[in-house]
Amino acid sequence: MRGITKRFGPVVANDRVDFSLRPGEIHALLGENGAGKTTLMRILYGLYRADEGQIIVEGQPARIASPKDAIGLGIGMVTQHFALVPPLTVAENVVLGYTDGFRVDPARVRAQVQEAAARFGLEIAAGALVSHLSVGERQRVEILKALYRNARVLILDEPTAVLIPQEVDTLFATLRRLCADGLSVVFISHKLKEVMAISDRVTALRDGKLVGTVDTAQTAPAQLARMMVGRETFGVARQGERTPGEPVLQIERLGADDDRGLSMLKNVTLSIEAGEILSVAGVGGNGQRELAETLCGVRRPRAGRILVNGQDLTAARPHEFTAAGVGRIPEDRHAGAVGELTVAENLALEHLGEFTRGGVLNREAILSNAAALIAQFQIKARPTDRARTLSGGNLQKLLLARVLSRQPCVVIAPQPTRGLDIGATEYVRNELLAQRERGAAVLLISEDLDEILALSDRIAVIYEGEIVGVAPAREADVETLGLMMAGATREGARVREAV
Ligand SMILES: Nc1ncnc2c1ncn2[C@@H]1O[C@H](COP(=O)(O)OP(=O)(O)OP(=O)(O)O)[C@@H](O)[C@H]1O
Ligand SMILES: [Mg+2]
Repeated sequence: MRGITKRFGPVVANDRVDFSLRPGEIHALLGENGAGKTTLMRILYGLYRADEGQIIVEGQPARIASPKDAIGLGIGMVTQHFALVPPLTVAENVVLGYTDGFRVDPARVRAQVQEAAARFGLEIAAGALVSHLSVGERQRVEILKALYRNARVLILDEPTAVLIPQEVDTLFATLRRLCADGLSVVFISHKLKEVMAISDRVTALRDGKLVGTVDTAQTAPAQLARMMVGRETFGVARQGERTPGEPVLQIERLGADDDRGLSMLKNVTLSIEAGEILSVAGVGGNGQRELAETLCGVRRPRAGRILVNGQDLTAARPHEFTAAGVGRIPEDRHAGAVGELTVAENLALEHLGEFTRGGVLNREAILSNAAALIAQFQIKARPTDRARTLSGGNLQKLLLARVLSRQPCVVIAPQPTRGLDIGATEYVRNELLAQRERGAAVLLISEDLDEILALSDRIAVIYEGEIVGVAPAREADVETLGLMMAGATREGARVREAV
């Protein structure tokens, strides 16, 4: 890719970027939120058209106007939100859109897909329904789908964000094997550790511009961080042991259903003390969402009790949780803010009462509140900007500011750094530690084990809606946590019981 420029209105997402991919290499694409990584790869895959620049494939100028063109040139892409059809089988998903509408014989298709999976060394059951697969398995189906279409270039946009450590190992082994056979991979990531482990070369983007391309063997995490952020990063970690405090949040035998009425939380008992960070580790979809929602009144529990400083909030409404000092950082940034409202309005949103006098909103108070929080939380925005124009990291800071400026005694933080870049991630983690220092009880729900190990006093693992273990963070190790997250220990316990 030569001199690629892409503008979205006034935003220059890619500014004369050069990028090259060699046969058989794993090339990491690194950069903070909004640096232009996804845009550059969407251009290569034909989802966006570049305003300027050239794409050259094997020496020939290429015209890529659609994914169909890209696939024709041997370029495949796996996005973070998989495009699979859950009620169909693996085999049907793999051939979907690739059979030119002929009626196909399901048994033959299944055999062909199974044979392809074996050829590429991907462990997949072709006849299984996608709806029954884990996230790691679905990702393998997406990869197989691209390889089945003869991809020689595979673009993976933050592929490890959704995986447990063991699945990351499997993915890396798969990629190494495929690359030894000549496949080229573009690997988008924020995680320096992974980039160091898997890539041959690294290209860093900052503010849409190319910072440089280096050989991974010739670089170090500190240099990559500098390329990405323009400064060294230090990492954020909990300091020292805490002195035990009073239990602030008590959850007793809590049960809850999901929107379809399926039991998603079973018999969850946890207690968090003042000045403590308790983490719930688990693979997404194991009841974390229901847990967070139940703890702020958005979802009604089916069984059990929720106590905050001894006050029973089991059937309370969201505003009663807020009044009792429970602050929740919304999991979905975009649902937590109203895009069409200004930054100032969003910052006042959940406590408009304080900015109202005689039924009239006090605009000046809303603006000065915003100016103070923007300065305190280092949000890169003006009070009058519409929230939808903010980058992911700045939007997250806005939501943090809204919740944390209230000095809550309980902080519920589901996936607070998901998809954030290094700078914003450090910021959010520091804020959570500051809440702990202040004496708040913090419930951190995360899929990122590094984050959990760095911040937590205690770690609970959730699997299929149950807490399958709780341990002090200093006694925890990644391997065991990973196995527990995958349900191995509970299965193990069952087997033992059966014996
Ligand atoms: N469809 C779009 N319309 C308007 N602006 C866009 C669009 N897609 C991307 N942008 C803007 O282009 C810039 C680059 O975005 P891009 O998604 O490529 O970043 P990224 O490096 O992938 O970030 P992240 O790590 O958060 O995924 C951002 O400022 C973003 O807001
Ligand atoms: Mg992106």
